Amino acid sequence: MTHSAKVAVAGVGNNISALTQGIRYYANLAAQGVPAEEFPGIKRPEIGGLSVYDVEIVAAYDIDAEKVGSELNEAVFQAPNNYPRLGVEMAPTGVVVETGISPDATVDDEIRRLARSLRDSGAEVLLYSLPTGLQWAATAYAEAALTAGVAFVNCTPEIVGRDEQLHARYVSAGVPLVGDDLASHIGTSVVHRSLLALFAERGITLASSYQLNLGGNEDFRNLREQGASKRQSKLNALAQDGVPLDRVDVIPSAGYVPHLMDHKVAYLNIEGVGWANTPVEVDLKLRVQDSSNAAGVIIDLIRIAAAALRAEEKGFVAAAAKLLKSPPKGHPSYSAHDVEASFAALSPSAS
Ligand code: NAD
Ligand code: NA
Repeated sequence: MTHSAKVAVAGVGNNISALTQGIRYYANLAAQGVPAEEFPGIKRPEIGGLSVYDVEIVAAYDIDAEKVGSELNEAVFQAPNNYPRLGVEMAPTGVVVETGISPDATVDDEIRRLARSLRDSGAEVLLYSLPTGLQWAATAYAEAALTAGVAFVNCTPEIVGRDEQLHARYVSAGVPLVGDDLASHIGTSVVHRSLLALFAERGITLASSYQLNLGGNEDFRNLREQGASKRQSKLNALAQDGVPLDRVDVIPSAGYVPHLMDHKVAYLNIEGVGWANTPVEVDLKLRVQDSSNAAGVIIDLIRIAAAALRAEEKGFVAAAAKLLKSPPKGHPSYSAHDVEASFAALSPSAS
């Protein structure tokens, strides 16, 4: 019997609402006898022997006064979260949201407090899912996880997995470190990258391209001001197939449109020239449930991190490379073969 991955979450926002409701949704399907291979929206039914519903949230941290002190299953529905209710029965988890690391506190004391709490919870993985742009917080939570010997997953574009010194300390401590910035399940970056690669493959010369993203959740509100790290990370994601980035522009949040709620709308434009310098143009609109797009990948990153900890792997785990916008050393460092070999090494029968 597999023991569920025990996960602590930092930041109880829309991503965690999508994650916790989704885990329940799939657990219900399994209970009805639906085989995991038939689950909608899942690429890998098992990672390291863990199904998508073999994930238990054992601790949660936030600093929002309305969320701290609430049962996790209530906190995920607290405004400004606006991911929809999926209509699944959410039994009490017994997890009460604790105060996270606040910007006003003495960071070293807070790291020690968090590390103690992580150890007490029995967490194997800390999932970092705060608003983008808080480098100090990403570093502080990563220090707490390292102190506690808990694997770390960074959902945000802040530099954690790419911090060579921090990565070396995770390696010495024998702890997995998975980051940075999750690549959405079917997000703007992957659609944009695929089309740019198609132009290149067919020999169409790229003239110019842009992507504009709009949304109505807190992430989009925040990205209007804190878009710099996200913009760079999105460019890193596009840099996978030799695309000339000097001709591509990326606007992470072209606007916060409240009535879009947790939907993201992206507009892509690509202009190029073909035979005898004559023009080719593509315009495309993508509309997605933004935080489902995150949860569909977080579920894999969590299982990779937990399985890697159990397999006594340390530092970055290559299985995660294609699930991140900004893996350490960049995308060209990880071949499809490296990634599949890493997944195979996570399976319990591998050791
Ligand atoms: P969100 O704004 O809904 O949630 C963030 C949560 O963090 C909020 O509950 C907030 O109160 C909490 N928080 C703020 N400061 C904190 C602190 N110091 N300690 C603990 N908690 C704190 O955001 P989200 O939609 O859940 O996204 C989380 C992150 O994932 C964002 O950085 C986003 O850019 C990134 N991301 C999202 C997607 C996607 O949704 N498709 C894709 C890639 C990356
Ligand atoms: Na989100």
